[in-house]
Amino acid sequence: MATVSVAASEQYNYDIVRKFAIMTLVWGAVGMLVGVYIASELAFPFLNFDIPYITFGRLRPVHTGAVIFGFGGSALFATSYYIVQRTCQARLFGGGLSTFTFWGWQTIIVLAALGDVLGYSQGREYAEMCWPIDLLIEVVWVAYLAVFVGTIMKRKQEHIYVANWFYLAFILATALLHTFNNLAVPISMFSLESYSLFSGAQDAMTQWWYGHNAVGFFLTAAFLGMMYYFVPKQAGRPVYSYRLSIVHFWALIFLYMWAGTHHLHWTAIPDWTSTLAATFSIMLLLPSWGGMINGIMTLSGAWEKLRTDPVMRFLIVSLSFYGMSTFEGPMMSLKDVNALSHYTDWTVGHVHSGALGWVAMISFGSLYHMIPRLWNTNMYSNKLINVHFWLATIGILLYITAMWISGIMQGLMWRAFDDFGNLQYSFVESVAAMHPFYVMRALGGVFFLSGMLLMCYNMFKTIKQGSAEPQTDAVAAAA
Ligand code: HEM
Ligand code: HEM
Repeated sequence: MATVSVAASEQYNYDIVRKFAIMTLVWGAVGMLVGVYIASELAFPFLNFDIPYITFGRLRPVHTGAVIFGFGGSALFATSYYIVQRTCQARLFGGGLSTFTFWGWQTIIVLAALGDVLGYSQGREYAEMCWPIDLLIEVVWVAYLAVFVGTIMKRKQEHIYVANWFYLAFILATALLHTFNNLAVPISMFSLESYSLFSGAQDAMTQWWYGHNAVGFFLTAAFLGMMYYFVPKQAGRPVYSYRLSIVHFWALIFLYMWAGTHHLHWTAIPDWTSTLAATFSIMLLLPSWGGMINGIMTLSGAWEKLRTDPVMRFLIVSLSFYGMSTFEGPMMSLKDVNALSHYTDWTVGHVHSGALGWVAMISFGSLYHMIPRLWNTNMYSNKLINVHFWLATIGILLYITAMWISGIMQGLMWRAFDDFGNLQYSFVESVAAMHPFYVMRALGGVFFLSGMLLMCYNMFKTIKQGSAEPQTDAVAAAA
């Protein structure tokens, strides 16, 4: 049985980890439910019901906010607080400061969703929040940095384990990106509207420097931190190559910052910035695959675990999707490929092979490892973990194949000419052609969401049968 002794639980602050872990499940379910709804709206537009609050345009940022910052963000807070304490053998720094980050972060997600539904937006993707919320994010993030760095500084282990490097890079980079992308002057103290400090091409480049690095640091570097802790733990083996993990870290951190302009190919930005971004994107393949190989090879000599351990399956399949989306991304950054893929569903397919395949699957695996340990028990049902795995995998495959077909078809239809040099298809013909694939994507979403809900049920039963109270050392030793 997974148990935590009195000594360990006094030593570490697990209460805050438990809170964030539960909110990861809640935001995962909410965000994916909204995802399925907006996917259905695209397939069956009547679902907008002419009600402004639930139109696709307003619910889309509710979805991205809830899954990236609610689900992903809470998973990162939970795992970083867990890992930094265990690898540094020190209790979280700052007393109530970590509790402040919990309530602060949850308030931000709720306010952001409310703002989206009510129609307040800065019009910057993944940074739609109005300036007062941006200021709150700033305060909470500084508190997070203080807790994390403070814990590292009071560590009892001389060595700082590589997972913490990735988390720290994510915290610092997010602070930088958030601050600069949101530089704005409010219209007045009593207005939620503001003017950005940037305009024209600079505005676009700042936004996509932010947008791309949100992917690079929020959705990638931090989840690699998760991978470097939970894959070796679940496999019961040391990481394949510690040296590779260090090279992986520095190369990834250096390269990501230069690639943002690949989101703006063929627009009014200078051509050299496009070329620079494509070059760095191609180079990014190397550290990305280095990390994937390091994770997967950690299992070498214990491959049978893939057959016997459903949690391991989540972790290893997530790395396969990580490898796949970081191969696809550099290809899409080539200007000629991007001329076909940009503005199409191919991009959305790429996004979700990363978001569902990598981000969500590695989070599921990590939560299945961590939650029973936090409540001193075993998972309620391993069978349900297995069912979740297959529902999620089928869901992803339906989602991304639908988007690949629909995206490439869209791109080809838009650039097809007839013998007289006229466009062969009207735009609406391409919309009609996408319909079956939008239905297929929504179905994929239903599979994925069902798996998520099953996980919530399994976790609820697990938590109910477990106890947050520390076990006595005698019980822990007997277990
Ligand atoms: C049940 C699962 C999900 C479904 C059905 C779903 C569905 C959707 C839909 C319909 C869109 C709008 C696409 C468009 O504008 O054409 C979207 C966008 C997006 N979703 Fe999801 N989603 C799911 C899960 C997730 C998760 C777990 C994440 C992140 C961890 C995520 C991240 C995103 C992002 C970043 C976008 C914006 C994509 C872009 O601008 O190209 N989604 N999603
Ligand atoms: C080496 C790694 C990667 C590279 C070079 C890369 C490159 C790209 C490119 C070229 C685009 C299309 C831009 C456009 O035409 O608008 C894109 C979009 C996107 N990628 Fe990646 N990608 C990588 C990995 C990932 C991963 C692992 C994820 C998710 C976890 C991800 C999430 C996204 C998102 C959310 C967008 C859509 C942004 C938007 O338009 O809203 N990417 N990526």
